[in-house]
Amino acid sequence: AAANIGVVGLAVMGSNLARNLASREGNTVAIFNRSYEKTQGVLDAHPEAGFIPAATYQEFADALQKPRTAIIMVKAGAGTDAVIDELVKVFEPGDIIVDGGNAYFPDTIRREKAVRATGINFVGAGISGGEEGALTGPSIMPGGSDESWVTLGPILRSIAAIAEGEPCVTHVGHDGAGHFVKMVHNGIEYADMQLIAEAYDLIRRGTGKNPAEIAEIFAEWNKGELESYLIEITAEVLRQVDASTGAPLVDVILDQAGAKGTGAWTVQTALSLGVPVSGIAEATFARSLSSHPEQRVVAGALPGPGEEFTVPADQVDAFIEDVRLALYASKIVAYSQGFDEIRAGAAEYGWNIELGAISKIWRGGCIIRAQFLNRIADAYAETPDLPVLMAASYFAEAIGRAQAAWRRVVVAAAQAGIPAPAFSSSLSYYDGIRADRLPAALVQGQRDFFGAHTYKRIDKPGTFHTQWSGDRTEIEAVDTH
Ligand code: 6PG
Repeated sequence: AAANIGVVGLAVMGSNLARNLASREGNTVAIFNRSYEKTQGVLDAHPEAGFIPAATYQEFADALQKPRTAIIMVKAGAGTDAVIDELVKVFEPGDIIVDGGNAYFPDTIRREKAVRATGINFVGAGISGGEEGALTGPSIMPGGSDESWVTLGPILRSIAAIAEGEPCVTHVGHDGAGHFVKMVHNGIEYADMQLIAEAYDLIRRGTGKNPAEIAEIFAEWNKGELESYLIEITAEVLRQVDASTGAPLVDVILDQAGAKGTGAWTVQTALSLGVPVSGIAEATFARSLSSHPEQRVVAGALPGPGEEFTVPADQVDAFIEDVRLALYASKIVAYSQGFDEIRAGAAEYGWNIELGAISKIWRGGCIIRAQFLNRIADAYAETPDLPVLMAASYFAEAIGRAQAAWRRVVVAAAQAGIPAPAFSSSLSYYDGIRADRLPAALVQGQRDFFGAHTYKRIDKPGTFHTQWSGDRTEIEAVDTH
């Protein structure tokens, strides 16, 4: 056996990852695909990679050194289970099966448990960075056992992106921890993208600037505290001219955003954990809203504010700066909420996840890579058990600086009738979490009224109920939550 690592599934992500592995010193890569034609195609196209092709799972297993290590790169879902079943038949205890797809973390927990029973290690690893990242260096979020990490760590470190000298991979935690963190990464990605889209929309509709002009604004923003991959590619997309019509490409793309599910999982999981990820949720819902043309056609008849939204010429620069600050403050909220979800998930599932390490491996290779993540790493280095990320001094200061602008932008959007769900929900979250007192007290009163759900008091311990349907005196009660 000559290969130290194998890849199963040779669609673009799989073949790019295999090529990345092969290009690093010390790796020899076995490749397998359900149809051999594809394997042959990859072999022919990349002779430099020195791939060892396998036509059957048995040949694949025979090509691998022990402990055998294989990364599955197939579309998440039933296909993953089918490949795992085949690998388990030809692998031995101590070998390692890695799922590099976007699996739903409960599936990873289930698969890890089942595979572990055979003595084989199963590692769910989130891989971010798209096709390009897979080829040149992704950010990798592996879960799984400590034993598997001994073999897998050096291999994954060899292919990961490098940020400030450090490879963008860490052993996130056991079983489903890696896919959990990748899921939240994608939720943050949804929020980041939606916030950028809202910023673009407000600038376009408020100032009349065309996409190419707005591209320059984003390119400029990319030189400052907003520096990130998503801002950078936004400028590229806005600059693009459609070859067939000569119009900006963004104007000919149908305005219905798709989704493969990771954003929805992030929100569903957050709901179950009781973590308010409102910015991520609004970003996910914004995609859903966009994708119902039958409703939008009907709702198009509903009245708006009735006035055109035009920022006066002498205030355009100030407005754009306000939007930039609103974007930055809302972005801080989105990350704060995302890290909150990781913290809650780790507590719920018993994972020992180092939040600072997560922010570091997201600095390079992944879709949300940004300067900003260094600040998050600093915040966790200073206070590892920080309960609210945005309360860290750096972010508190940044929000303090941005908040007046943020409020002006949300007001302007509301008055103009321009949807800004992520901007405004982030601001509401901010005002909610910092509030001295919330109207939750009234909600508790209502719950006690109709369902005797009880409440606690601010002035003494215990659980209470007002006898609403009787004489309305208060009694001590059993806590029913
Ligand atoms: C990444 C991306 C990647 C992918 C998602 C997009 O980290 O490389 O998040 O996983 O682009 O499939 O998800 P949607 O199709 O739901 O936007």
